[in-house]
Amino acid sequence: MNQAGTPRGDDVEDIGHLVLVGMGVDAPARDTDLLTLAGAVGARVAYLQVGTPTLDAVLDQLAAADAGARVRLFAAPSAGAAAPARSWLRRVTSDWIRRNPDVLTIDVADRPVHGAEAGLSSPAWEQVPGHRRHVLICRGPRCTARGAAATAAAIDARLRDAGLGEDSVLVAHTGCLYPCNHAPVVVVHPDDQWWGPVSAGDAQTLVDSWAAGPHEGRSRFVQRPAVLRGPPDAPPS
Ligand code: FES
Repeated sequence: MNQAGTPRGDDVEDIGHLVLVGMGVDAPARDTDLLTLAGAVGARVAYLQVGTPTLDAVLDQLAAADAGARVRLFAAPSAGAAAPARSWLRRVTSDWIRRNPDVLTIDVADRPVHGAEAGLSSPAWEQVPGHRRHVLICRGPRCTARGAAATAAAIDARLRDAGLGEDSVLVAHTGCLYPCNHAPVVVVHPDDQWWGPVSAGDAQTLVDSWAAGPHEGRSRFVQRPAVLRGPPDAPPS
């Protein structure tokens, strides 16, 4: 029996379990439309990033409840921040299938995912960009309500126009950074500067102040937490 209560049979298409996936970082903060749409079409909701339940968790639940079922994933339309490409839905799904082979039959929109597609790692994502500044744009609930999506889009656009890529200014979107009364909040490191409220109209001034400084960053590398535990004890002789 599928989610709509229709018997599975040769003469009836099995539409399976429908899952609407919120794609953008602000999808959880704008979840009213998504939840209403999901309720209207009998779908579950999952989030690709930031929110819960995650796509992984929803697939785990469906696998436990209805092994062998068909699942159809749809990238939910977004009225907010630019969302990652739908290919990310396929990457995350493919990675899940590789860890859980032959458990669910999964389509993203109208194309099946087999588990052989590109996954979650790439040689291009090995190195930390040699950035000079690390900019944190708060996408917590208060900053989102005060226009952080427009602020973020304006900062991105100005960085592009100024030719400042990830090797100069590395931008990250975060949850609440605490001084919500100044929303939308933007933090710049290593300067340890906290700005707010930063409107979309302020983006040009802020970005241009970074463009005036040195662009050269430094090399960084990603460490494993195990280094904090030191070398393993030598076996007793
Ligand atoms: S929501 Fe942005 S600082 Fe709290």
